Amino acid sequence: MYTRENYLSAKAEIEQRRLDAISTAEERNLELGLDHPEIKKIDAELSGTGLLIFKTACMGGDIEAVRARNTELMAQRRALLVKLGYPEDYTDVHYTCSACSDTGFVGTKMCSCLKQLLITKNIKSSGMGKLIDKQSFENFSLEIYKSNPDNLARMQRNLKIAKAFADNFASHHDNLLLIGTTGTGKTHISTAIAKVVISQGFDVLYDSVQNIVNDFEKDKFKSGYSPSESASEKYLECDLLIIDDLGAEFITQFSVSALYNLINTRQNKGLSTIISTNLSAGELAGKYEGRIYSRIIGADYTVLRFEGDDHRIIR
Ligand SMILES: Nc1ncnc2c1ncn2[C@@H]1O[C@H](COP(=O)(O)OP(=O)(O)OP(=O)(O)O)[C@@H](O)[C@H]1O
Ligand SMILES: [Mg+2]
Ligand SMILES: [Zn+2]
Repeated sequence: MYTRENYLSAKAEIEQRRLDAISTAEERNLELGLDHPEIKKIDAELSGTGLLIFKTACMGGDIEAVRARNTELMAQRRALLVKLGYPEDYTDVHYTCSACSDTGFVGTKMCSCLKQLLITKNIKSSGMGKLIDKQSFENFSLEIYKSNPDNLARMQRNLKIAKAFADNFASHHDNLLLIGTTGTGKTHISTAIAKVVISQGFDVLYDSVQNIVNDFEKDKFKSGYSPSESASEKYLECDLLIIDDLGAEFITQFSVSALYNLINTRQNKGLSTIISTNLSAGELAGKYEGRIYSRIIGADYTVLRFEGDDHRIIR
């Protein structure tokens, strides 16, 4: 679900919040003790309470009396703080998240603060960070297609399939091929899907075919190969891969075989892929060998056609 890298970095960030909260409280305590001896005196007595309870218990003394004295001291301390112009909880540890005290977990369950941080990190590492701010299902408009009933019907179907793909991501292994001319909303729909899928805690990657192929090429020509430094492994592992602009890359024997391998491996692993292209089905057939073409136009992918005017120009 989460890449190890994002998980470790989110955990470290939360641990840092915890350390910061504790050291802020410690610094405040120290400072306050230096500036105000009357507080220091209370603190000295309070810090002996634990030991005193233990000793009293051993000797069969009155623990309740010690406890009562402790409560009294705390109240005195709070009152004193307020008198000195501080908030009464000034020296308490103030965690960013009170639910988990900045540990990231409530019992054995991941706290919502850690989940949220992982989502933010997954958005960043998805490659869609900037797009996700602008493109979503909420601002995908059907208005622009209303002048053409065929287009409208097609886009309504696309939107319905895309939403179901995103909402039910945990329970399917489907793939989508978004096909159509430039500026018709293919990337917009892909971003909208990514946003929903990431918010469910999945690991999503987005890139152009060219960049993906470049990463496979890097690995091929690297000496002393070690999987931990692999540039391309992430494309074979992520829960959802969005391959943008198929056909815009520089097509070579290597690019075609890398792409076939990628599509095939993900299919075999049951990992979902979204591919978008400007090319027509005929052009795809001409550019790619049968084994790629038959996979993405065949039964493995649901084909969504995008037609209409270029929205970049309309706006
Ligand atoms: N139905 C829509 N509602 C609102 N905005 C849209 C819609 N369709 C496209 N847009 C906007 O128009 C611009 C172009 O759309 P997008 O990038 O998704 O096109 P595309 O099909 O991916 O084009 P290309 O093939 O050139 O990559 C984007 O800014 C996108 O947000
Ligand atoms: Mg696009
Ligand atoms: Zn928390």
